[in-house]
Amino acid sequence: MYPELAGKQALVTGAARGFGKAIALRLAKEGVTVVVNYRRSKSDAQAVVDEIASLGGKAISLRGDVGDDEALDKLFEGIKSELGSLDIVVSNAAFGIPGAVMESTRKYWDLTMSSSAYSLPALAQRAVPLMPDGWGRIISMTSHGGQKALEAYGLMGAAKGALESLTRALAVELAPKGILVNGILAGVSDTKSLRSVPDAEKLLRYVEERAPLKRLVQAEDVADVAAFLCSDQARMICGQFIVVDGGLSILA
Ligand SMILES: NC(=O)c1ccc[n+]([C@@H]2O[C@H](COP(=O)([O-])OP(=O)(O)OC[C@H]3O[C@@H](n4cnc5c(N)ncnc54)[C@H](OP(=O)(O)O)[C@@H]3O)[C@@H](O)[C@H]2O)c1
Repeated sequence: MYPELAGKQALVTGAARGFGKAIALRLAKEGVTVVVNYRRSKSDAQAVVDEIASLGGKAISLRGDVGDDEALDKLFEGIKSELGSLDIVVSNAAFGIPGAVMESTRKYWDLTMSSSAYSLPALAQRAVPLMPDGWGRIISMTSHGGQKALEAYGLMGAAKGALESLTRALAVELAPKGILVNGILAGVSDTKSLRSVPDAEKLLRYVEERAPLKRLVQAEDVADVAAFLCSDQARMICGQFIVVDGGLSILA
């Protein structure tokens, strides 16, 4: 537990399910008031809010496509009127259509880059003016595809690579304000977005068998690291990615 987080306010994007949901629940258990952001999954987002309330926590759900400036402006109008200020942003939501680079289109490129890479600075630009002097946390979410060639992950891999670079650039820009910008590099987890990858089942079984810790990443594994990065224990970590993959990436 990190008592210093009690009373803080966080936006978690794409928090209706998967990693985002687990992060929202984990932060709420620390006493953080959470904005559960969603794009389409309104009832799932409300279910997360209800679950947090049933645990004695505080949360609201707000719609907003992180790849769309107008939608983000509306989302932040909602945050300003409902919460007034913000301490933590977890830029978790990402969107891309799996496929080969040779079959990609400029339309998919624009969609993938705006939802999965530019969303980070777009969120930071709106969130930082709402953060108190001297303390803030921004967390991004990447995968091995930002550095390695994964099957059917070409455009998303490019977006994750850009996101990693933007995370470091923002870390340098915002460090003087006391805002720590870091990321989590998660290994393979059985979430809805992973299920959209071709041969998902085969990939899941392969990773489960090969990872030194012999299991898939669970959303809670990622959520625990997100809470740590928000805590004061992480006060000297700046512009880094914590790898949460059960050791898969250290293998030759
Ligand atoms: N699963 C893995 O193996 C894995 C590994 C490494 C990294 N990651 C990363 O972890 C993050 C979460 O992935 P996940 O596996 O938890 O995915 P998920 O279960 O499919 O959930 C994705 C969430 O993002 C939301 N979302 C998608 N596009 C959005 C947009 N443009 N604006 C706002 N919300 C949007 C979805 O909401 P709606 O349903 O409302 O659209 C959904 O709640 C992503 O950045 C992903 O790249 C995942």
